[in-house]
Amino acid sequence: MPAVVLVGAQWGDEGKGKITDYLAEQADLVVRYQGGNNAGHTVQVGEEEFKLHLVPSGILYPGKTCIIGNGVVVDPGVLVQELEELQRRGIDTSGLRLSLRAHLILPYHKSLDAAEEERRGAGRLGTTGRGIGPAYVDKVARTGIRVCDLLDPEEFRQKLARNLKEKNEILTRIYGHPGYSLEEILEEYLAYAWKLRPLVADTGRLVNDALRAGKKVLFEGAQGTLLDLDQGTYPYVTSSYPVAGGACVGAGVGPTAIDAVIGVVKAYTTRVGEGPFPSEARDATGDYLRRRGAEFGTTTGRPRRCGWLDAVILRHAVEVNGLTGMALTKVDVLTGLSPLRICTAYRYKGEVLREFPASLKVLQECEPIYEEVPGWEEDITGARSLAELPAGCRAYIRRLEELVGVPVDIIAVGPRRDQTVAVRDLFSR
Ligand code: IMP
Repeated sequence: MPAVVLVGAQWGDEGKGKITDYLAEQADLVVRYQGGNNAGHTVQVGEEEFKLHLVPSGILYPGKTCIIGNGVVVDPGVLVQELEELQRRGIDTSGLRLSLRAHLILPYHKSLDAAEEERRGAGRLGTTGRGIGPAYVDKVARTGIRVCDLLDPEEFRQKLARNLKEKNEILTRIYGHPGYSLEEILEEYLAYAWKLRPLVADTGRLVNDALRAGKKVLFEGAQGTLLDLDQGTYPYVTSSYPVAGGACVGAGVGPTAIDAVIGVVKAYTTRVGEGPFPSEARDATGDYLRRRGAEFGTTTGRPRRCGWLDAVILRHAVEVNGLTGMALTKVDVLTGLSPLRICTAYRYKGEVLREFPASLKVLQECEPIYEEVPGWEEDITGARSLAELPAGCRAYIRRLEELVGVPVDIIAVGPRRDQTVAVRDLFSR
């Protein structure tokens, strides 16, 4: 199993950082393929906690090649800062590579993100404000500026001057923003270019060479299936493709290269930002999950909306990603909560829906249909095999597998690296 894609199966924040970190130990290359510093992956190594936004979690192991692929939008200031912080904490970052083809986030993207959100008023999307959407808009409009342009000062100046003319007009005339000076951005960004130049590479070639050489490659998705531009709860989505297919587009490999796709599933559901969420628990259970699960955004610090596990969402994730298995995270958060509920279908205008609807208007009116299962009281944070999990916990996992139709391959029973139960060995299966 040389190539494994890891994707969020819900609305992001499923604990992908921990699972990537766990699988990265066995991988030779770890590749980010979409999104940007809207992501926040928390990884606990011993007593130390790392919060990564752009750099793949594999960086925490020495000797791995970590790639920021062409599908990622890169805020170079954030990348430089993240690298310097890792180096300060003694992490070897020499294995990091940045795609020549990745698009840049520029200061005006961040201002536009904030201004557009403000203008949406009650209809705001709840973006992370990092300029992600406006940067992808420029990419699709074919006016984006890429890492390869940043390395060529004359090219960068020309493209930036052309873009600034338009962006300053929009910012000043529509949004009352003072606009940006060409020279200031140039000075700031060319300083980043100088620092990032040694990392820049044709990363698609690196990944394909590694695959040909039989190396193990882990594609690390950010956000989640329901935040996918096409398969998610549009328009309450991010502007990229977190689904497994995004790994091909955003890393520069063909679909035939992928051997396994693992959906990271949190044992309950959370969502940040706006939009419908049928199994949301707006009661004491929601507060309990938020507190026990420390459900506050890694990137923005916002409290996450919390609710029960939703099998309708997970069946959608199985289909649109071609999931071969699941990694179930934060199972320990459910300890002591009984009975547990799993949403198995939705009720919409008296009808039972088993498939995830495309229309948000429909989703908004969906009532969850719950199945109740007994919980467990025993502490599971010390379990390292299925047999060490209490019967109630094993039954919950079995029921989830039946409802969703794919096996659970990995179970996280705590935040630390070692607090993991490997049901199957993914890279050598
Ligand atoms: P954007 O990606 O900043 O444009 O935000 C669009 C939507 O995606 C908002 O609802 C964000 O809260 C959500 N979002 C973006 N990145 C993440 C993430 O890493 N985890 C969870 N939600 C995210």
